[in-house]
Amino acid sequence: SQSLRIGVAGLGTVGAAVVRMIARRREALRASGLDITVTAVAARDRTRDRGLDLAGVEWFDDPVALARSGAVDAVVELMGGAEGAARETVAAALAAGKPVVTANKALLAKHGAALAGAAETAGVALAYEAAVAGGIPVIKSLREGLAGNAVSRVYGILNGTCNYILSRMEREGLTFEACLKDAQALGYAEADPTFDVEGFDTAHKLAILTSLAFGTQVDADGVSVEGISRVQPLDLRMADELGYRIKLLGVAQSTPAGIEQRVHPTMVPKSSAIAQVMGVTNAVTIDADAVGELTLIGPGAGGEATASAVFADIADVARGTVRPTFGVAAAGMAAPARAEMQRH
Ligand code: NAP
Ligand code: HSE
Repeated sequence: SQSLRIGVAGLGTVGAAVVRMIARRREALRASGLDITVTAVAARDRTRDRGLDLAGVEWFDDPVALARSGAVDAVVELMGGAEGAARETVAAALAAGKPVVTANKALLAKHGAALAGAAETAGVALAYEAAVAGGIPVIKSLREGLAGNAVSRVYGILNGTCNYILSRMEREGLTFEACLKDAQALGYAEADPTFDVEGFDTAHKLAILTSLAFGTQVDADGVSVEGISRVQPLDLRMADELGYRIKLLGVAQSTPAGIEQRVHPTMVPKSSAIAQVMGVTNAVTIDADAVGELTLIGPGAGGEATASAVFADIADVARGTVRPTFGVAAAGMAAPARAEMQRH
């Protein structure tokens, strides 16, 4: 059987769920020829009871030291943030020739091209299924499952927190603030929820999908972004009376003028499939030449659903799978030509 010793940096909503899932799935993993052990963990607060059995697991206050530890073959980064500890930990792991699994879309959106290059140089995987659309296996679908297609457009609901807020405001007449508080309590929101409600998290995810869809470098700065913080209950009622719902959509499409990437609240007809996507659920539609239109729908956030995606990457790493991070060799990727954006 193939064995892998992993270090998990970050034991919050997602990290704790991943550690629990590995313990729960141990026998099934062994039956499939994989022996995966968490040998090290890192978080800030050593004293917090996380409901985890960490007997025999080495604790690190410093996640970079975890990444460099001889007791760790692969690093799972679940701390978050585009800079600081997350970036340094991932860079240290890749520099040490260790594969990395991460759910960190902010990091990939900002430093994806450089990190993909570092992974390529080291000849190891940089895997991030959990970074986009939580439990939906959209990265594998786009990169591997649709490899024979030319993609013309990718769009959808990519932030669970925003869809949860809009759904509850509409259905239950609750305030924006009350819904956001619940989304935070449920572990859906980012550490700084501004990233969710101002549309930046959707933009990060969209930029990653754009890179995969069009073979260009991640270009988060090229996304035009408007979030949902200014959507009022009255807007939702007006939309309802006119036969619409308001959804925060991310849209990336190839146009003759270049690649257009935008995030904004959008009126969608109540009869449309995307209008039926409620709560923390995400939906991603891909327009591709061979398959036509394909939509993936599933849980967009939350510990268990996200751990499911992280786990899939860990299993891939244990099997020794190494794929180009964004589908094509990092060295050959150019920044996309940006289409001039119209206000919508
Ligand atoms: P979280 O609950 O805030 O957990 C973050 C963890 O990282 C905590 O355990 C924290 O330690 C640890 N940490 C933060 N800074 C650290 C540092 N400098 N050194 C050591 N440990 C540090 O976050 P989360 O919701 O699990 O999200 C983790 C990542 O997954 C983020 O990149 C997020 O965007 C992504 N993600 C989250 C979801 C979701 O539904 N939550 C879904 C998809 C992707 P303490 O516990 O000691 O404070
Ligand atoms: N905060 C994110 C969301 C987590 O609500 O969609 C999943 O990426």
